[in-house]
Amino acid sequence: MTDQTEFRRYLVAIDSISTHQLFTDCLVIGAGIAGLRAAIEAAEHCNVIVVCKGSLQDSNTWLAQGGIASVLDETDSFESHIVDTLNTGCGISDKEIVDLVVRQGPRLIEQLLRWGTDFDLTDGHIATTLEGGHSHARVAHAHGDETGRIITEVLIKKARQNPNIKIVENFCGVDLLSNDDNKCIGIIGQDKRGPQIIWATNTILATGGAGQLYRETTNPEIATGDGIAIAYRAGAVLQDLEFMQFHPTTLYVAGASRALVTETLRGEGAILRDSRGRAFMKDYHESAELAPRDIVSRAILAQMLKTKSTNVYLDVRHFKREHFAKRFPTISELCESFGIDVSQNLIPVRPSAHYMIGGVKTDAKAATSIKNLYACGEIAATGLHGANRLGSNSLLEGLVFGKIAGQSASQHIKKPGDSGIKHQRIKHQPTYSNRTLLNTSDVRNSLRALMWRNVGITRKAQLLTEAQEIIGFWQRYVMDKTFDQPQDWECQNMLTVALLMTQAAQMRKESRGVHHRSDFTNINDKNFKKHIEITSGK
Ligand code: SIN
Repeated sequence: MTDQTEFRRYLVAIDSISTHQLFTDCLVIGAGIAGLRAAIEAAEHCNVIVVCKGSLQDSNTWLAQGGIASVLDETDSFESHIVDTLNTGCGISDKEIVDLVVRQGPRLIEQLLRWGTDFDLTDGHIATTLEGGHSHARVAHAHGDETGRIITEVLIKKARQNPNIKIVENFCGVDLLSNDDNKCIGIIGQDKRGPQIIWATNTILATGGAGQLYRETTNPEIATGDGIAIAYRAGAVLQDLEFMQFHPTTLYVAGASRALVTETLRGEGAILRDSRGRAFMKDYHESAELAPRDIVSRAILAQMLKTKSTNVYLDVRHFKREHFAKRFPTISELCESFGIDVSQNLIPVRPSAHYMIGGVKTDAKAATSIKNLYACGEIAATGLHGANRLGSNSLLEGLVFGKIAGQSASQHIKKPGDSGIKHQRIKHQPTYSNRTLLNTSDVRNSLRALMWRNVGITRKAQLLTEAQEIIGFWQRYVMDKTFDQPQDWECQNMLTVALLMTQAAQMRKESRGVHHRSDFTNINDKNFKKHIEITSGK
């Protein structure tokens, strides 16, 4: 927070006696791959409530196209996947975590297959493809480019069949509740009936990403970084907030919202061309289209500048039409909806904010720095990705750490309902200010434009300072109010996370992975081969 803004532990007034309440052994906040997998695991031992802000379809997992990376054939090896992940992470991945995630992957993907996930197969085995930074074709996919949807549907079905799991959609979590020992004891939020408290013995944050902080993003509207802001207010240690990964290729049609155009297209031979039709990636990296994402994103921006264009193009005209439609049904439909015939026309693309590498710091058991609070999936900073995420390692991480979080949060509970969570008195009245009210939807739009311009693919001190000042100014007028609508809490959370990200980006005076500074263009191992941690200290 800036010194101009008083820190608020809770965004809303709370009186636990007069608020509607639910009790559970384990609360999971978020329903992407990590949240659902955590719920299924925890439900082996205890009662679970899963809440999500929108519907079960509103997640980054649902939109994931390319797939899930893992060692799935005998010509590949754990060592190779580990080395690729570490190399892409640019020196600050946690080796123990990389090892754990890579080695647990195949078993959990086989389990997904047994649970009914309709992975694409070749000769009876899970088919795999290539993405940038992988030295082996190890990206499994389902229904072509509908991998995320297919996996989520299987997990939803499995969760719904389990009597120990209750799913509550359209529940907007506002703040984690903590007791005098600073233990997390649940959440205050709001659903259609009004304010609700869910008391929980253990809580798992799986709220996903923060792409909506940027004007251009592949993320769904719900991805406003709420979990990070909520954990910050509760005093959790956050890590790696300067590392926002930009996806090189999202469909660019002026006026339309951005949509992911999967990297597996490039893995299978799509060529990037500039507005003059020239294939330019070899000018920037020997791996050309399959260079790591940060390099491809910056190359695209540089080429756009050189050719004075708003975008570049993906060329898939050499793909067989029927094969393309079957292998990439989502992209086919998307292009068709904009009148782009991929066998004749180039696909206009440019980079967009895609994946939040940083978040709530967790250990190998998915535990955060707050007692009884766990985190998994995109919101967690496990150290797997280091400074740059290898494509399709995120669904893998969500699957592996979802299971681990579910286990950690439930293993001490003997049977469902046995954890003994009780009502606790919490009373809180935020102080009000009479400063002018800004229109939060204007602030939100302006913030997204500011983040894109000043805290985007390339950063520098002067732009970061300017962003800190402007965000601080908006915070003075938005953080001092008490709201009762999700879109206003989202705006408060976005301002909180934006400022923290900008501060972290300012602190890292070097270029590493997805964090590129035009004023410090080199990697600086002496001072920055480490993680930047931030906490409110509350
Ligand atoms: C893609 O399909 O290109 C996205 C996959 C990912 O971000 O891991």
